Amino acid sequence: ASAPDLAAALLAWYDRHARVLPWRISPRDRGHGRAPDPYRVWLSEIMLQQTTVQAVKPYFAAFTERWPTVADLAAADEADVMKAWAGLGYYSRARNLKACAEAVVRHHGGTFPDTEEGLRALPGIGPYTAAAIAAIAFDRPAAVVDGNVERVTSRLHAIETPLPASKPDIRSAVALMVPHERPGDFAQAMMDLGASLCSPRKPACALCPWSAPCEARRLGIAETLPVKQRK
Ligand code: ADE
Repeated sequence: ASAPDLAAALLAWYDRHARVLPWRISPRDRGHGRAPDPYRVWLSEIMLQQTTVQAVKPYFAAFTERWPTVADLAAADEADVMKAWAGLGYYSRARNLKACAEAVVRHHGGTFPDTEEGLRALPGIGPYTAAAIAAIAFDRPAAVVDGNVERVTSRLHAIETPLPASKPDIRSAVALMVPHERPGDFAQAMMDLGASLCSPRKPACALCPWSAPCEARRLGIAETLPVKQRK
């Protein structure tokens, strides 16, 4: 299948099956040039590093209620932020959170930069997070590659090279598929596919929008991918 056909099939699946999450815009509003608040996208992406969606939900609600804007968070007492973060773990994320909010206010007038490069210059924002925010909040055609996306892509193209050596191939494969329409939905659709049907074990290939073009399914090796280099 061509890259545009792959993207279209995945987006059609996402329109039916997207998880409804507090940092996403409502399904009714999706795909009409509407994008979620960059502050909420950033906050959710930081919280979702090393923490599950279910565990993040109550923290995301508490933070956005108490500090509705990046300026509110920048002005917050650091000890209050640390206390509100308690339980999420990896506390350097919370310290960077406050530092990043302050940098957005001080150097960008309270508005998040809208490019991967600008985002990556902020405290606590690495290549993955910069790409996720650029795509989801600013509709930039960025290649967003997390663990779920690595699994989905390795299977689609039957990439048998072990991780992490396969990362450059995976990244180029994703970059080729990213559509210029709805790149943020495309990124989140890949995440949702990896979190649901394209699971590490017993993937539900019969229900998958990429069942026909999936090389790993054709070869009967979906469950064995991605191969991981022994550490
Ligand atoms: N994990 C990281 N970012 C996510 C997002 N935007 N939606 C669902 N899961 C995620």
